[in-house]
Amino acid sequence: MSLHIAVLLGTVREGRQSEHVARFILQRLKARSVDASLVDPATLWFGDLAHKALDAETATGAKLDFIRAMTQADGFVIVTPEYNYSFPGALKNLLDVTHKPWNRKPFGLVGAGGVSGGLRAIDSLRQVITGLAAITVPAHVPVQSVGKTFGPDGPLVDVEAWTNRIDRFLDEVLWYAEALKAARAGPVQV
Ligand SMILES: Cc1cc2nc3c(=O)[nH]c(=O)nc-3n(C[C@H](O)[C@H](O)[C@H](O)COP(=O)(O)O)c2cc1C
Repeated sequence: MSLHIAVLLGTVREGRQSEHVARFILQRLKARSVDASLVDPATLWFGDLAHKALDAETATGAKLDFIRAMTQADGFVIVTPEYNYSFPGALKNLLDVTHKPWNRKPFGLVGAGGVSGGLRAIDSLRQVITGLAAITVPAHVPVQSVGKTFGPDGPLVDVEAWTNRIDRFLDEVLWYAEALKAARAGPVQV
């Protein structure tokens, strides 16, 4: 089954290190012929939710394009830094833009931070994603000291170990993406 996975970056910070992790994940998805794209909040500056209405009926322009792209995705990987024990507001704003496109789809979570590796940001996101009527994949990846661990060309240290870790994580994300895609298309619609 051909799958489309959207990789969502969690921050708009200039000089963000987590982008290197997101780009490596994109590369690993493409290495196994998965159709994958990067969703960058820095180029989708929708801001705070100013209107109660969320969905495609009222959206136009870049917001409508975003909603359509998320509708077409079969699953998501979020790569987010941890800022003050949680994930950045830019990511929350992006997730709040719509609701239906996320429903019954899997989210794989990757954190980037200092010693914690963004584990608290990952935990905070699990709760938020439940609110999106979506599920989080149990497997996750914390990246400790992200600036020393990843660079523009991928892992800076333990390249083989990081590649294996991320590939095993993506195995899980793709398993859920395929299973849930089949279930959404199946005869049982509640
Ligand atoms: C505002 C701010 C708050 C931060 N808070 C945490 C934190 O709570 N836990 C942690 O492990 N790292 C924290 N850090 C360190 C970041 O995780 C680290 O700088 C990482 O590089 C951020 O990802 P980015 O480079 O993609 O922005 C914080 C950094 C910033 C800028």
